[in-house]
Amino acid sequence: RGVEQLGNMIAEASSIVPFTGAGISTECGIPDFRSPGGLWTRNRPIPFDEFVASQEARDESWRRRFAMEPTFAAAKPGRGHRALASLYRAGKVPGIITQNIDNLHQTSGFKADDVIELHGNTTYARCIGCGKDYDLSWVKLHFDKTGCAPDCADCGDPVKTATISFGQSMPEDAMRRAAELARQCDLFLAIGSSLVVWPAAGFPMMAKESGARLVIINNEPTDQDDIADLVIRHDIGDTLGPFVGN
Ligand code: OAD
Ligand code: ZN
Repeated sequence: RGVEQLGNMIAEASSIVPFTGAGISTECGIPDFRSPGGLWTRNRPIPFDEFVASQEARDESWRRRFAMEPTFAAAKPGRGHRALASLYRAGKVPGIITQNIDNLHQTSGFKADDVIELHGNTTYARCIGCGKDYDLSWVKLHFDKTGCAPDCADCGDPVKTATISFGQSMPEDAMRRAAELARQCDLFLAIGSSLVVWPAAGFPMMAKESGARLVIINNEPTDQDDIADLVIRHDIGDTLGPFVGN
């Protein structure tokens, strides 16, 4: 199943950069986006311009977020997260690039500074105007009191989960740091992503073009399997479980 080959590649590498998608968190009870039962098979994503333009879209967006809260609150790092955190503690991983918004890499032991979040974080909220951060509990309180999504207390612009919606600009600093990591590593691990959302999906290719070995671990085929040095089409927890250390 490739686990042994993966073990050899990990042993030979001096700088490993993991790149994760929703598939690493499914064993933690968080659904992915595009599998049967995934979020986008149940709900149409609300694009950024709609969120900005419509109070109704903002209310709907927050209703969905609150409905997910028990799931996010109960989620604990899975075997994949723990294996990557072990490699990080061993000094093999300078940083991790993630499309995930669930905060589980931080929970598993990565320093916040070393988690490059391409699509933001859903465990807190942020004003889309001035960038002021808010606790979700503040949003919930306001929502329960008034029946609608709140605006920023400082500037009056809408408050959104601190995530990147379709049509919203990518975080510049995260994009720059992700590119640096992808270019300098010698082993790049793309884990649990369908690799269909750009520009995020450009990083595995960028790493490969810069001379890294590329491993793709995903249940389903991806468009970049043909440029990978190793494809493990198998469960992530089972595949990375053997690499969970202290
Ligand atoms: P997807 O849902 O597109 O892909 C997740 C992949 O993980 C699928 O190909 C699954 O087959 C695979 N998978 C799920 N559980 C697995 C397991 N236990 N073992 C192995 N493979 C497993 O999720 P992402 O690629 O992360 O962005 O989606 C990319 C972006 O699309 C997200 O960051 C989000 C979404 O729209 C925004 O909202 C901007
Ligand atoms: Zn504001």
